[in-house]
Amino acid sequence: MLKITHFSVENSYVGTGVFASRPRFSWKLESDKNDTFQTAYKIDIAGLCEGEKIYSAQSVWADYAGTPLAPATEYTAKLTVWDNHGQSATSELAFETTLFDCGFKGAQFIAADLGYNSDCAVLFKKVTLKSRPQRARAYVSALGMYELSVNGQKAGDAFFAPGWTDYRRTLQYQTYDITALLCEGENIIEIEVAKGWYRARLADYGNNLYGNKNAAISEIRIDGDVINTDKTWSSRKSNVVMSELYDGETCDCTLDTSQIFPVQIVEFDKSRLANQIGPSCHAVSELGVVRKIITPKGEHVLDFGQNAAGVVRFKVNGLRGQRVTLRYAEVLDDEGNFYTGNLRTAKSTDTFILSGGEQVLNARFTYHGFRYVRVEGMEARAEDFTFLVISSDLPQTGRISSSDGDIERLARNILWTQRSNFVDVPTDCPQRDERLGWTGDIAAFCETAAVNSGCSAFLNKWLRDMRGAQGEDGDIPIIIPPPAPVCGTSAIWADSVTIVPWAVYLEYGDKRLLKEQFPAMLKYLAKQRSLKGATGLIKSGHQFGDWLALDADPAVDGKRGATDVYFIANAYWANSLFIAAQTARILGEEEGCESLLRERDELIAAIRREFFTPNGRMVSETQTACVLALKFGIVPEEHKDVVISTLRRCVEKRKGHLSTGFAATQYLLQTLTKYGLEEQAQSIFLNRTCPGWLYEVEKGATTVWERWNAILPDGTLFEPEMNSFNHYASASVGAYLYRTVAGIEQTEAGYKSFSVRPHPLKGVKEFSAEIDSVYGSICSGYKTKNGKIIFTVKVPANTSATIFLPDGTSRTVGSGNYTFECEGGDYGVKQVYTLESRLCDFMADERVVEVASKIAPQMFGGQSGASLSSLKLSFGQLVSMSDEKAGEMLKGLLKEVNKKLGEN
Ligand code: BGC
Repeated sequence: MLKITHFSVENSYVGTGVFASRPRFSWKLESDKNDTFQTAYKIDIAGLCEGEKIYSAQSVWADYAGTPLAPATEYTAKLTVWDNHGQSATSELAFETTLFDCGFKGAQFIAADLGYNSDCAVLFKKVTLKSRPQRARAYVSALGMYELSVNGQKAGDAFFAPGWTDYRRTLQYQTYDITALLCEGENIIEIEVAKGWYRARLADYGNNLYGNKNAAISEIRIDGDVINTDKTWSSRKSNVVMSELYDGETCDCTLDTSQIFPVQIVEFDKSRLANQIGPSCHAVSELGVVRKIITPKGEHVLDFGQNAAGVVRFKVNGLRGQRVTLRYAEVLDDEGNFYTGNLRTAKSTDTFILSGGEQVLNARFTYHGFRYVRVEGMEARAEDFTFLVISSDLPQTGRISSSDGDIERLARNILWTQRSNFVDVPTDCPQRDERLGWTGDIAAFCETAAVNSGCSAFLNKWLRDMRGAQGEDGDIPIIIPPPAPVCGTSAIWADSVTIVPWAVYLEYGDKRLLKEQFPAMLKYLAKQRSLKGATGLIKSGHQFGDWLALDADPAVDGKRGATDVYFIANAYWANSLFIAAQTARILGEEEGCESLLRERDELIAAIRREFFTPNGRMVSETQTACVLALKFGIVPEEHKDVVISTLRRCVEKRKGHLSTGFAATQYLLQTLTKYGLEEQAQSIFLNRTCPGWLYEVEKGATTVWERWNAILPDGTLFEPEMNSFNHYASASVGAYLYRTVAGIEQTEAGYKSFSVRPHPLKGVKEFSAEIDSVYGSICSGYKTKNGKIIFTVKVPANTSATIFLPDGTSRTVGSGNYTFECEGGDYGVKQVYTLESRLCDFMADERVVEVASKIAPQMFGGQSGASLSSLKLSFGQLVSMSDEKAGEMLKGLLKEVNKKLGEN
């Protein structure tokens, strides 16, 4: 049977209404038959338009070609689909349009006139209705954050409306169905407004960056009547007396808020009002306390067991005037005390002055990044406290499972890091005095993010701000939305202009985003061109380089890494040219594509002249330089082997650890694997020492860290100045798990067709990845059993996949579930020793002697044995010093030893 699921219009799951008169529809298909393809579809809109049967396999982003939809109207769409097996299916979808661009004509921005500029205030109006309304909608926005309530009940359950946009250009409005909240007779409509991103302090940029008055605007349609915000509204004080993003909130429940004040009109350009296009922030989950701690200092601390973003809600039965203070932290220090050093100037404190009696309270216009809360002023009973995890509400679309619990934990940590940092904009961190839309961070993480969660709408919204904030000269600010009109630029950060939309396009197949973003890409590339000097390269200007790479000389600059910053800048420029060229081709601009590719060729030639010797050595012989050169197609064919062996040496030098920063971590493991260094990739990934992903897991991380040594091996904390425990740049390793280990990669955008080329992890007996693609669920997994390795692959309807197995075979299949069995080799064997292991450790291990002395007796007897074990050589170094035959023998020895140890 053919079945339609997930019939949706634009991103209607975001629940804010459809914002286009000619929206696009998407759906997924399921069938009990293999090789199912859609042959035709038809969309009717009840009462408006009978669609035509369109003979096409398109099932995502299908344009609606009928009569344009009207604003603020409810519709029902009916979809019929036919497939190649002669089956058909239908599905219906009810949706509603927003005001489009024709709202708020009679409404004005109003602010409370309390006689002083408060952090928070309530604007309200009494409305008398003759009867309960049939249909009531409120369209609302604010300069600041707001909550709408009707008769004391909050409309919707979103946090932080209207969201953070570049208010200098765009201000989103939201739609609320308030029909059920209104009653016959007198009603009170209230909009509580707080500072929010509009006025709160943002990093070092200060307060009141967009304006110094909080105000709200609303158009409320109740049946045939319209109520606008204007001078007829009134205002009063709010119980929230202090509200800051970093410092937290103070709520005085004893404050007398009954006095009525007038409102004042605030001038703000209404043409900036725009539909909300991304999902709202919500309490996406609620966590209970896992442990109550009294620290050595005597602090009463509750542990929620998970680092994330949000606030704490608590229940209290207190006295009037009792003061309860909650302070938030990500970690305890090595002595077990509450630690806030890494929050820098963020006070991250919520204070509540109780009204007396039973109360349930939480901060509403701020959030914190934390796992622990310190409670003062009341008894910290675990059952009274709940962590409201606040995040943009995104459906989880990626899942990893494995027999190795640490890998599963890492995958969960990556998701939690995304959840904590996708708070209306993609931020760097949720805890310290930043929480900003740093463009370089999302450039590194966007591919993983797009697999993990459905973030097409979320990133579309952010890219709309990027396009608006792009400088006249094409500059892309390092932070979007930019807190200040000028806030600098740098390669990678600016290259997010191509990298982010490209990742979104590949994951979800949305061509319109590419079309919207293409002019911004070209403008950026024109700016790059204007900066190039006589060598054809950019060699000046501010660069963050390989941010936080571990190979930096701390005396020179501890954060920028050892790789030449202009090599990185030019390499990323070449990549941006390549993405823009692909975009031009997809948009049908063949000539533009050719000229961008020519420009890229010239740039690559210039990079080679400047940064490569005639024999293939590179100016910076670092992991980052080699990876970028290989990944971005910069290495001349004749020098590939040289660069690959340089890369191998760079990994060996670090004993199977990485040294890359923001520039290359996201490409490192995939590139190593692609160029025959799979063993090195796995050794970097699987090692449990610092720096490494699983080191963090072993240290108890529940989110991914900014610094590899955030907690040092001895348990002490790295210096507080830059030490976030919730940063996603290195969480980009998620893409390695999906693309390389599970091997799922698009060959057509959105996975209309894709390849599956698994690379099982040695010693990890089971692994599988699932991606809920826009076509349906894709799975790739393996299991090792009795010397065999069994691969399973799931291909959704209306797509095809080419599967490449490690035994060298391949096949192309349509939808269905498939199982393949291959010889297992040593895949199932845990790699106790690797090429990066030290010989002295190996030879001192009694368990290996029996096997090893049979295969390589010369290593274990007499003089040479003693001198070998006294050297601090790695196995790999010994292999590279040996001739070919001895090298093979050593590798064979390693295999046999692992087989023996790994099976025990
Ligand atoms: C942020 C980063 C960001 C960087 C720019 C930091 O403070 O947390 O993740 O990209 O500044 O160098």
